[in-house]
Amino acid sequence: MLVLGIETSCDETAAAVVTDAEIPAARIRASVVLSQIADHAPYEGVVPEVAARAHLAQIDGIVRRALDEAKIGFVDLDAVAATGGPGLIGGVIVGVMTAKAIAAVRDIPFIAVNHLEGHALTERLTGTLEFPFLLLLVSGGHCQLLIVEGVGKYMRLGTTVDDAMGEAFDKTAKLLGLGFPGGPAVERAAKGGDASRFALPRPMIGRPDCHFSFSGLKTAVRRHVETLGGLPLHGDEARDLAAGFQAAVADAALDRTKRAVEMFRARHNGETHLVIAGGVAANSVLRARLGDLATTQNFTLHTPPPALCTDNAAMIAWAGLERLRLGLTDTLDFKPRPRWPLDPDAAPAIGAGVKA
Ligand code: KG4
Ligand code: ZN
Repeated sequence: MLVLGIETSCDETAAAVVTDAEIPAARIRASVVLSQIADHAPYEGVVPEVAARAHLAQIDGIVRRALDEAKIGFVDLDAVAATGGPGLIGGVIVGVMTAKAIAAVRDIPFIAVNHLEGHALTERLTGTLEFPFLLLLVSGGHCQLLIVEGVGKYMRLGTTVDDAMGEAFDKTAKLLGLGFPGGPAVERAAKGGDASRFALPRPMIGRPDCHFSFSGLKTAVRRHVETLGGLPLHGDEARDLAAGFQAAVADAALDRTKRAVEMFRARHNGETHLVIAGGVAANSVLRARLGDLATTQNFTLHTPPPALCTDNAAMIAWAGLERLRLGLTDTLDFKPRPRWPLDPDAAPAIGAGVKA
């Protein structure tokens, strides 16, 4: 089985071909990711209109490259999957329309994939993980703890009451004058920094729920920068603030995930798998801290390789393939969805949260 995947929901134009090969290492036949970082860098953030136009200009060539790398043609495809949301709607429309056109011409199934499900199932593409598992999904737009019980079966335990974790990294990078994209810049700057030099809060720690909050932490970073006289920072100031911020985020992630482990155990006693996915899962400090948590809780931590943590189309093709196997295909009148929760029944975090 050969499935083409298309991802255009944010600032990467991506196409990939995956198969259902028994051996996980043989499943990705091609994965092409074209980053728009240079297009958005002057604005220090992703501009939706710029993103949509760049996706439109690039998508045909990127699909062609993925097919060429996989050494196949359109005639060899069994299905085509595209991110159907959530995301920047202009970009999502470009990917969905491209996929629908291929599906219509070739008369093969079309699958609209929830971008978050792509991240959630990545560990099953690269390994042999079975359901259920506990998932910390941390990206530029999302920050959630979920129990994953099957394809399309999610129970959200917690979310953020304000910024997503990646967004907090991006905004902190801006405050520290580290540039865009912020996550990798903060991680690089923090190397060798003194995380204890500047006092920073650990929002939400100890609360009985699993929610996150980062706006108070961001404000605290801003105050330190102001006290230091604003940008540009001098000497080790940026390094130490970046290290302090990263440590505070990791502390929060550890505490919130520990609470989620308790909730997961109450529902699935004896199951012991924890996955971190999404762009921020590429952060080595976060991975190491969650590795320690997993060890003390007798859990196994799974983290996809960094290139599959950040946005890519292999995860979309794989989620499409998993859906196809279950007969969960979509019709060509599917409407792209700017918002698309994995667990529509989850109680909103607003009101539960303290904007610390
Ligand atoms: O999953 P992703 O590629 O796109 C979304 O779906 O949002 O995640 C991008 C986010 C950005 O906020 C980026 O700053 C963050 O992931 N990120 C990182 C690292 N690499 C990417 N955050 C912290 N440390 C990193 N090494
Ligand atoms: Zn993503």
